[in-house]
Amino acid sequence: YIEQTLRPQTLSQYIGQDKVKENLRVFIEAAKMRSETLDHVLLYGPPGLGKTTLATIIANEMGVNIRTTSGPAIERPGDLAAVLTALEPGDVLFIDEIHRLHRSIEEVLYPAMEDFCLDIVIGKGSTARSVRLDLPPFTLIGATTRVGLLTAPLRDRFGVLSRLEYYNENQLAYIIERTADLFGIGLEHDAAIEMARRSRGTPRIANRLLKRVRDFAQVMGEETISTELAVDALERLQVDKLGLDHIDHKLLLGIIEKFRGGPVGIDTISATIGEESHTIEDVYEPYLLQIGFLQRTPRGRIVTDLVYKHFQMEAPHHD
Ligand code: ADE
Repeated sequence: YIEQTLRPQTLSQYIGQDKVKENLRVFIEAAKMRSETLDHVLLYGPPGLGKTTLATIIANEMGVNIRTTSGPAIERPGDLAAVLTALEPGDVLFIDEIHRLHRSIEEVLYPAMEDFCLDIVIGKGSTARSVRLDLPPFTLIGATTRVGLLTAPLRDRFGVLSRLEYYNENQLAYIIERTADLFGIGLEHDAAIEMARRSRGTPRIANRLLKRVRDFAQVMGEETISTELAVDALERLQVDKLGLDHIDHKLLLGIIEKFRGGPVGIDTISATIGEESHTIEDVYEPYLLQIGFLQRTPRGRIVTDLVYKHFQMEAPHHD
């Protein structure tokens, strides 16, 4: 299935995140030399930067299977126990959105991570007793967009903490060119650069833009995406020169028009534009902070002069 093979399978196919990659290479090699499992890994950073892809690659490079679940999918301690007892020795257990694990479930995870064992309670009331089960050694890979929401005891049980960064234009262009190759479609380099520029530092967005631009090329009967075709398609897709979309615009213009540029609290913004505050914080804000369009202050978010420039608006005078 093409979606699966789009993802790089090895560290050397994976573009960007050089520091993270170099370190992981060493840790993987060392673990293999000792015939041990890799220590638990926490991957954090904004959505779409390749945390799941990297987890799959780590398992692949270790030569083990990966089992995937997510914080919200594990509702009760028994759900986690079921996942843990089904592991084979050496397996990677990938828990996406690990910050959304319930506290009572985290507590099952601590001894599992530390001593590869599971404490289960049998019976009820005065006859209840605790039984300790051995688990096969495994590697937990946790992924989160919100490392600050992890409890300290959980965070401290990861031996490797890796933060993924936004990608630069060249890296994104390279990823787009790689994907175009896999699609078997021609792509001018400048067309790749145009798409890269509008991908908000995020491979997931880059590949999405490529797919949509490819649709335009396909319907127009073009076998190669020229720069002109790409620019035209991107305009029709309503992603602006910086890759900001409808919701980014609503967010920024909302702060300007309703709150004179801020400061304004996240919940107020959320109510005004009708987007969940979590979505704003996890998905939209990080990139706007990164490019200096938003600032967080103790009194709330403010838009910067760059935003007024971007929208060709006059910035208010602060005097
Ligand atoms: N596709 C999505 N992310 C990628 C990456 N970091 N390297 C190569 N291909 C990718």
